[in-house]
Amino acid sequence: MDDLREKYIGQIRDAADEAALEAVRLAAVGKKGEVALKMRELGKMTPEERQVAGPKLNALKDEINSAIAARKAALEDAALEARLRDEWLDVTLPTRTRRVGSIHPISQVTEEVTAIFADMGFSVAEGPQIETDWYNFDALNIPGHHPARAEMDTFYMHRAEGDDRPPHVLRTHTSPVQIKAMEATGAPLRAICPGRVYRADYDQTHTPMFNQVEGIAIDRDISMANLKWCLEEFCRAFFEVDEIELRFRASHFPFTEPSAEVDIRCSWEGGTLKLGEGDDWLEILGSGMIHPKVLQAGGIDPDQWQGFAFGMGIDRIAMLKYGIPDLRAFFDSDLRWLRHYGFGALQAPARHAG
Ligand code: PHE
Repeated sequence: MDDLREKYIGQIRDAADEAALEAVRLAAVGKKGEVALKMRELGKMTPEERQVAGPKLNALKDEINSAIAARKAALEDAALEARLRDEWLDVTLPTRTRRVGSIHPISQVTEEVTAIFADMGFSVAEGPQIETDWYNFDALNIPGHHPARAEMDTFYMHRAEGDDRPPHVLRTHTSPVQIKAMEATGAPLRAICPGRVYRADYDQTHTPMFNQVEGIAIDRDISMANLKWCLEEFCRAFFEVDEIELRFRASHFPFTEPSAEVDIRCSWEGGTLKLGEGDDWLEILGSGMIHPKVLQAGGIDPDQWQGFAFGMGIDRIAMLKYGIPDLRAFFDSDLRWLRHYGFGALQAPARHAG
């Protein structure tokens, strides 16, 4: 019996996997295994012999069974350990640098502009790209006969035969969103309105669809001084240049009075544009104090409230900041151009990161 014990306990210890262990189990305590055969021999023994040998055989059987169970658990543990070791993954490893797609400069710049004005307390308002002529023109103090309607190269939508209501237009600027924002929240109000606009024009600096951002601030005592500070602050943050100089040039827009076009001081030395220095001026936006008739059209009492408004081309300031020479390339969907001028998904605008 001691020989049996030694033999099987040894074999169990040496079983390399579950299949080997199962073979040992069958040979030892299976129905036709050695221990079972010995149990059968009990019948041929004298009662005295049986009394000694029976319990011993049972104890041996139990001992072998529990050794098998222990070995089985150990094998399972080892298998799990091995799997954990093989399938181990270091999630802190740096990612592969291959870029999957990129953020278009227009989206990036829109984010940058939004972040800077959000810091100054401006919310974001949006409006439809197909507008009634009332929102695009009349509400902005551009009545039917006004020459600005012709100047804007407007795209008119088709009306069914016999329908003589004025046609809808593709908005020619983001200014109609001013009116919608006034209607939605009333005064006081501070909002920017970024979005697509349309004009029938096409050359190196004009495309039939482009992007603008409108800004308005309405309160009891808003003045041109607030406008000037706001735009200087914006330009410093956006172009990441500490010394910025803006020039306000008297101009005319039907929806602002007085009106000013704003130029930024720059130099073109050696063909590269530098902002904040030099003897050249570059026009970047249109602005002014909101015309009383426009406030009225938006449901705001011009005797109680006043405000400033400005509008600038997002594509244009993107071209200036990132040195993009041709506006048309923005809308060509040329992958090589996007790879060169696009931004990585995690390249957050400076203001967002701070
Ligand atoms: N809407 C004007 C344009 O598209 C820009 C502008 C907006 C000017 C607000 C003044 C005030 O040219």
